[in-house]
Amino acid sequence: MDEVKRILQLREELHRHNYRYYVENAPVISDQEFDFLMHELQDLEAKHPEMFDANSPTQRVGSDLNNEFETFVHTRPMLSLGNTYNRQEVADFWQRVSEGLMGAPFQMCCELKFDGLSISLHYKDGRLVRAVTRGDGTQGDDVTANVRTIRTIPLQLPQGSDYPNEFEIRGEVLMPWNSFDRLNAEREEAGEPLFANPRNAASGTLKSKNSSTVAQRGLDAYLYYLLGDGIPGDGHYQNLEAAARWGFQISRNMRLVNTLEGVFEYIDYWDKERWNLPVATDGVVLKVNSLAQQKSLGMTAKSPRWAIAYKFQAEQSETTLRQVVFQVGRTGAVTPVANMDPVQLAGTQVRRATLHNADVMASLDLHVGDRVLVEKGGEIIPKIVGKVEQGAGEEEQGAIKFIEYCPVCGSKLVRYEGESAYYCPNETGCTPLILGRIEHFISRKAMNINSLGPETVDDFYRRGVIHDAADLYELKASPAFSSDVKSLPLGGGLVEAKILASIEQSKQVPFERVLFAIGIRFVGEIAAKTLARYYGSMENVADASLESLTQINGIGEVIASSVIQYFANPVNRAFVERLRGYGLQMEIGEQQKQARSSKLEGQTVVISGVFQHHSRDEYKALIEQHGGKNVGSISAKTNFVLAGENMGPAKLEKAQKLGIRIMNEEEFLSLLDA
Ligand code: IVH
Repeated sequence: MDEVKRILQLREELHRHNYRYYVENAPVISDQEFDFLMHELQDLEAKHPEMFDANSPTQRVGSDLNNEFETFVHTRPMLSLGNTYNRQEVADFWQRVSEGLMGAPFQMCCELKFDGLSISLHYKDGRLVRAVTRGDGTQGDDVTANVRTIRTIPLQLPQGSDYPNEFEIRGEVLMPWNSFDRLNAEREEAGEPLFANPRNAASGTLKSKNSSTVAQRGLDAYLYYLLGDGIPGDGHYQNLEAAARWGFQISRNMRLVNTLEGVFEYIDYWDKERWNLPVATDGVVLKVNSLAQQKSLGMTAKSPRWAIAYKFQAEQSETTLRQVVFQVGRTGAVTPVANMDPVQLAGTQVRRATLHNADVMASLDLHVGDRVLVEKGGEIIPKIVGKVEQGAGEEEQGAIKFIEYCPVCGSKLVRYEGESAYYCPNETGCTPLILGRIEHFISRKAMNINSLGPETVDDFYRRGVIHDAADLYELKASPAFSSDVKSLPLGGGLVEAKILASIEQSKQVPFERVLFAIGIRFVGEIAAKTLARYYGSMENVADASLESLTQINGIGEVIASSVIQYFANPVNRAFVERLRGYGLQMEIGEQQKQARSSKLEGQTVVISGVFQHHSRDEYKALIEQHGGKNVGSISAKTNFVLAGENMGPAKLEKAQKLGIRIMNEEEFLSLLDA
């Protein structure tokens, strides 16, 4: 058979197996056979680049290209639903619907409320053409490239089904519990911050700039709303049944009911059973089934009158408080943690709960032996939300108090203005803070010493190989280092050489990142950049006065006084001097110095399209070097758009609508030259 025909045949076949495997969970071929077909297709596609198709099953692996999200104005606004939290409000809703329909009989479709983020998918001639997030309801981000990697979303509907030429289908993108647990375990291992819940993880993932990250994270999707002119029938439920036949993943747990009792039965059942589902749900959605009846009920300004969401109560349990301990985090923040008698909560056994901070703790007025209410809401860590009864016989000891001194180093704790946490201020002498500073120093956005992980750093610190981040640059000479590295799992010279090479490489990291890396409290990436550009060198930053600092755009009182405080500490000054001695960049580059101007001072610029003379990143850097600000999306505040070829149509339209100047590359470069 000719290869082009074979490509088309393989694509169809793989789309079909994909559906059987991921949606129906009933594969008809083995994984090995599937891979075999996939490889055949990959090989043929490589031979026939003219046959490229973004919807080919091979594209599910994602790409490393950066996706710039375009905004897309929804064809029909994406409304949210009214929320109810108790049965009375559900009964009221039923009553309103019944009255709105003037007593006519109606059916209610009961569905699970999936806890992810909503997505709108557009199909044309059976092909996925666009996927957009809800955004503000009127317009959202075009995340098509990322959505293509979600395996339960069909890219191409099977030929011969009765789907309309053009339609929209909406649903929820989710991260299943097992993917979520795996992701957080990996992040914990890598010392990265954990996602609080599957919804945040799904949202963070879908907005990722890198679709191969998305492909690895195991997202899933359920569709629950079909829209468009040519959709099959009057019944919402029946339409979704049709969509299921076309290859969409539709929840099997939808039910049509005729009575309010039926609604309550559904709610009661899923309130318990939902913990056995593979994905997070936070309630039930009720929809009048007939589209004609939906239409006659209509909308309020914000939400439809024909649908409502009932939210489950977060699960709570009662147990006894035994002790409160205080943990010092890597930033110095002190968190009170309750130790309790073990109790079953939302499917797992729990014996520790967070009390957040001193204020929350004080408001609970806790005593040892109190019966307390523990809740697992959206967060991973359970929390104490209330007291049921005071512990008997513990009254004489009084309420448990927040500590005044650091449990690790004994320093007096401080509270920064506007923050709820108490902090240990001993940044150069308290172990968790020192470790936090070293970890920050080596992190990717700082010195990017990527061969060292937090575990190795901890290990080195505890063995006395290093005492602070500057010691890393001494490692070559240290016999302790060699013997320690040799005892690491991979062992031997290879690891040692890798670590030393990446430490050596970090000496080339530009000054602005060195300034970020030294860990001045409140000086994030952006502030470090601003300070580096403004002052040009570490010396100048260190000697800057409060007045001078606060004059800079983007540097407020808090950052300014933190900079002053940092350099007032001789330990910090000595640390910075040691870094200078090891050859780290302590001033901005020659080029940057020469190139600096304030021609774009106060201007906000959006970049769009493909460029000839410089890369997108180079243009970004140019804008910043000349005092301008680069932002992602066009608004009334945008001063001009720097447009290359193939500027996104949505951006173009918006710029034109707002009357914003569109500048091409040549115009922009001559503006800077002038
Ligand atoms: S229907 C006009 N059905 O809950 C009807 N929404 O506040 C539009 N959601 O933004 C939504 N599961 O993200 C619908 N079975 C379901 C749902 C669901 C979750 C989300 C959706 C929406 C929000 C409603």
